[in-house]
Amino acid sequence: MTERSLVLVKPDAFARGLTGEVLRRIEGKGYTLVALKVLTPERDLLAQHYAEHEGKGFYGELLDFMSSGPVTAIVIEGVRCIEGFRSLAGKTDPTAAAPGSIRGDFGRDWGNGPTENIVHGSDSPESAVREIGIWFPDLG
Ligand code: RTP
Ligand code: MG
Repeated sequence: MTERSLVLVKPDAFARGLTGEVLRRIEGKGYTLVALKVLTPERDLLAQHYAEHEGKGFYGELLDFMSSGPVTAIVIEGVRCIEGFRSLAGKTDPTAAAPGSIRGDFGRDWGNGPTENIVHGSDSPESAVREIGIWFPDLG
């Protein structure tokens, strides 16, 4: 039943010093930190990560944003942590995300639509395995 999820603290949140806040919420919820690193992702890594969105209108803007500065990549672990972290994160659009969620409390539209939305979390067990393999290839 225990599963893992890939969480990213995106460049907007990293630049605003919100990495600790995201970690606090993950730990407060009771999930375990398995791996964590800070890096500025290359576009080819992001192209793998966001392969499902290739061809969509926001794809180029998304890769520009995600490669614009450091992110914190985190692997978390716990029973149903994929669903649980998605709930902590809130809706994709930070304007619409409920207060109390990470995106609802710390995200807003800066004039560029919903792309800058603080965090990423894997959306299924299959995505989590795929994404952890991309960001942490050495993780067993
Ligand atoms: P994530 O993958 O980051 O956890 O977010 P999500 O599942 O809630 O959203 P998804 O549909 O997978 O979209 C991936 C990321 O692309 C950006 N996005 N921009 N401008 C737009 O219309 C738009 N739509 C999505 C967001 O950064 C979103 O998190
Ligand atoms: Mg997604």
